[in-house]
Amino acid sequence: MSLVLYNLLAVHAIIDPICEPSILEDLRGEIESDLSMRLDALTGPKSLQDAIKYSVLNGGKRLRPALTLLSCQAAGGDKCDALAAGSALELIHSFSLVHDDLPAMDDDKLRRGQPTLHIKTGEAMAILAGDAMMSLAFQWITDPQQDVSIGNQLTQELADATTRMIVGQVYDTLGGFAADSTPAQKLKLTHQNKTAALIRAACRMGGICADSSDEQLKALTTYGEAIGLMFQIVDDLIDVTQSTEHVGKATGKDQQAGKLTYPGVFGPDESKAQVLHLRNEAKKAVIPLGDLAHPLIELCDYMAVRTK
Ligand code: IPE
Ligand code: IPE
Ligand code: MG
Ligand code: MG
Ligand code: MG
Repeated sequence: MSLVLYNLLAVHAIIDPICEPSILEDLRGEIESDLSMRLDALTGPKSLQDAIKYSVLNGGKRLRPALTLLSCQAAGGDKCDALAAGSALELIHSFSLVHDDLPAMDDDKLRRGQPTLHIKTGEAMAILAGDAMMSLAFQWITDPQQDVSIGNQLTQELADATTRMIVGQVYDTLGGFAADSTPAQKLKLTHQNKTAALIRAACRMGGICADSSDEQLKALTTYGEAIGLMFQIVDDLIDVTQSTEHVGKATGKDQQAGKLTYPGVFGPDESKAQVLHLRNEAKKAVIPLGDLAHPLIELCDYMAVRTK
């Protein structure tokens, strides 16, 4: 990293008034140890292992696995039981970013403050590493020690959410909407699929790892759907309000690329109002889970105001 970029990032770290909840910082350590251990065990060409490690172990916020662990706890489970599911989700998420950044997609050169994988290794490796990350994620959640019914449910959730993420990326990149859809309908459909589906699955998979009741799973599902959509609206707002140096990825690009975004369709004020509405919906949904859901409420509050 250049000295100038390093200094800019350091200054922002000091003056950024939005602090992450300490619970997220604590969980990140556990999640990253698990990811490192699994990635160190990969066999095959070292170039593939290096490419996967480069794109996974590089400073992501780890929100999806954190949601899985906290949802497991909120349903009365032990977060250690949800670690494999959380790591699998983070691997799918990282795969989605590697492919999202490719020239044929968003054509981005910076991700998490460093060159994107295809800039570092070339496009062939970025495509193949993304493919491998997707299949490895399914290997990671297949634990022979695990209850078969829980394993089947986790596989189903991860597969559905991954397919929906890809469907969302097709809408985002190539369209294909029903002819009579309004811009607002197209936007919601895209965001619910490309981003909210994995976040919803993160919460549901945590509940499944805790062998949650139907009521608990319903609460986590409503929470996940609301924060999932909220998350992409905030990402759209970050694109129009924050600097590349602060966020660690190119900003100010969505409009010029002709993307359907919340600020583009509704304007920034209405988009922020929708963020607050979804934040309240999410928090309301987990009230029945009692005190165990408090960390989910804290994380939701942070996700509504994050600036990167
Ligand atoms: C970025 O996700 C991609 C979107 C779905 C908007 P994150 O903002 O969670 O990215 P990392 O993992 O922290 O880099
Ligand atoms: C990415 O949406 C969604 C997925 C990767 C599935 P964006 O294209 O808005 O994400 P960023 O802004 O590049 O992180
Ligand atoms: Mg994209
Ligand atoms: Mg992108
Ligand atoms: Mg974006």
